[in-house]
Amino acid sequence: MVIRPVRWSDFPTFVEFYYSRYDEVTRNPDLFLYTQAKKPALGEEAIWFGSLMREILDGDTVCMVAEEDGRVVGAADVRRKGHHTEERHAGIYANAIVPEWRGKGIGDELISTTLKACTGKFEVLYLIVVDQNERAKKLYRKHGFVECGRFPRGFKRGERYLDDILMWRALG
Ligand SMILES: CC(C)(COP(=O)(O)OP(=O)(O)OC[C@H]1O[C@@H](n2cnc3c(N)ncnc32)[C@H](O)[C@@H]1OP(=O)(O)O)[C@@H](O)C(=O)NCCC(=O)NCCS
Repeated sequence: MVIRPVRWSDFPTFVEFYYSRYDEVTRNPDLFLYTQAKKPALGEEAIWFGSLMREILDGDTVCMVAEEDGRVVGAADVRRKGHHTEERHAGIYANAIVPEWRGKGIGDELISTTLKACTGKFEVLYLIVVDQNERAKKLYRKHGFVECGRFPRGFKRGERYLDDILMWRALG
């Protein structure tokens, strides 16, 4: 397992990794990841990936992947909260691992590496996590994130509403 910055050549397996959540969510209603009404077409993914790489080149995004046998099996990113002068110091953290690699410490390694790579680029980080996502909350707390707010019924899947928790930490 290698944790490293994302590369252009990751596109095929990065998309495969992103698409896998659409299949998983049909089997697992407790997958607390966002999905669109329809799986985006490959062309849309190419545009999305291009904009991710552009943001990295512009110094606005940090993105690390976990690679196993040439395949992206996990990813973490921090993107600027916004482009206004007053919010450029803040980043939003997100991460996900493919099901078969969860619970093996990859999330832990990914977050450590990503936080290190954020030093000097961001001063504060935020993230949003569904309240019921115990594994993710435990990981974030371990890495210094603390709860600072709640969005009641911020997550809705089918007819089920769950609260979103806002967490933050300072960097450096
Ligand atoms: C959340 C996620 C990124 C965590 O990554 P991971 O590689 O599975 O996590 P790790 O193996 O590094 O474990 C993180 C911590 O959670 C603990 N943990 C593992 N399974 C757990 C479970 N079912 N419930 C509670 N804690 C659990 C681990 O013991 C570890 O704590 P420790 O270091 O004190 O032992 C990953 O499980 C995932 O992608 N889940 C689905 C998508 C998701 O929820 N993304 C986050 C959206 S905010």
